[in-house]
Amino acid sequence: MDKFELVNRVLPQPQAAEATDEHFAPSNIALCKYWGKRDSELNLPINPSLSVSLAHLGTRTRVEPIEGPADDVWLNGLQLRADTLFAKRLSGFIDLFRQTSHQAFRIETRNNIPTAAGLASSASGFAALTLALNDSLKLGLESSALSMLARLGSGSACRSIYEGFVEWHMGHRDDGADSHAHPIDRRWEGLAIGLIKVDEGVKSVDSRSGMARTVESCHLYQSWPLQANTDLMKLHQAIESQDFTLLGSTAEQNALSMHATMIASWPPLVYWQPDSLAAMQKIWALRQQGLEIYFTMDAGPNLKLLFQQQDSTEVLAHFPDLEIVMPFGS
Ligand code: DP6
Repeated sequence: MDKFELVNRVLPQPQAAEATDEHFAPSNIALCKYWGKRDSELNLPINPSLSVSLAHLGTRTRVEPIEGPADDVWLNGLQLRADTLFAKRLSGFIDLFRQTSHQAFRIETRNNIPTAAGLASSASGFAALTLALNDSLKLGLESSALSMLARLGSGSACRSIYEGFVEWHMGHRDDGADSHAHPIDRRWEGLAIGLIKVDEGVKSVDSRSGMARTVESCHLYQSWPLQANTDLMKLHQAIESQDFTLLGSTAEQNALSMHATMIASWPPLVYWQPDSLAAMQKIWALRQQGLEIYFTMDAGPNLKLLFQQQDSTEVLAHFPDLEIVMPFGS
């Protein structure tokens, strides 16, 4: 099945498009990573994943119908040329909603994710755009359907439809109708995430190509789905009992296992830079000295620290440039 068929089945008859207010979707960080697809057209994952959304950090998007043949895309106040990768990806996604109409849109999208943090904005970007299109076309879709649609833009976007802890059920259907995220009904006041910038440049191999290469060429990858499923259970247990040691150690081991599959791919995928490894060694040394801090990393060189608010002063003493986010407040 291709994504147009799937969307046709899910969407009610769209109404005439209207201009919308801004719609916000948070960025998210996976504690159990999505790595590997069983269907790359529909972004269907090989394993389930679990993330935490980053409260006020994310993307705001509004859309407005316009006359003319082409979309007009604005990112952080700057108009983008239609042939940029960003504008093409956005318009390609909106095509799914246009169905038989040729309606063009002006899309204004703004990220408040600190550029220095090296956080991906595609998850919050596609989630915010999905919310805006739902409003503009008066589709009235439920959150699970919005999550499924956002997934077609970028897999991890399906988790950015929700706040707090979020699980992405991988689903088993070939058409992907059962592959969407849902929120986990548990808060964790005092849980802190720190963004450590190693390098904010554009990565040489994006997640999409990186995971395809891993699935195709890495023998270690066979053990990844089992690891991810075990980690998912541990994270549920950690969230349920607010066991920070279990949460942090599981997230760190999960990220390192994903990186092990990347490194063992061919050609090798090494996203780490010398400063990434230096930061890891510093974290391990501090942990040995009794400071409970853990890290997670995505397909890039930057680290995200996990710690508890009670340790903020000490953590900041060791990482003075840290940008801190409290997903559930203090
Ligand atoms: C390492 O969601 O960016 O951040 O579905 O191809 O758009 P596509 O990939 P994307 O991959 C995210 C990978 C990750 C782990 C995660 O966020 O779960």
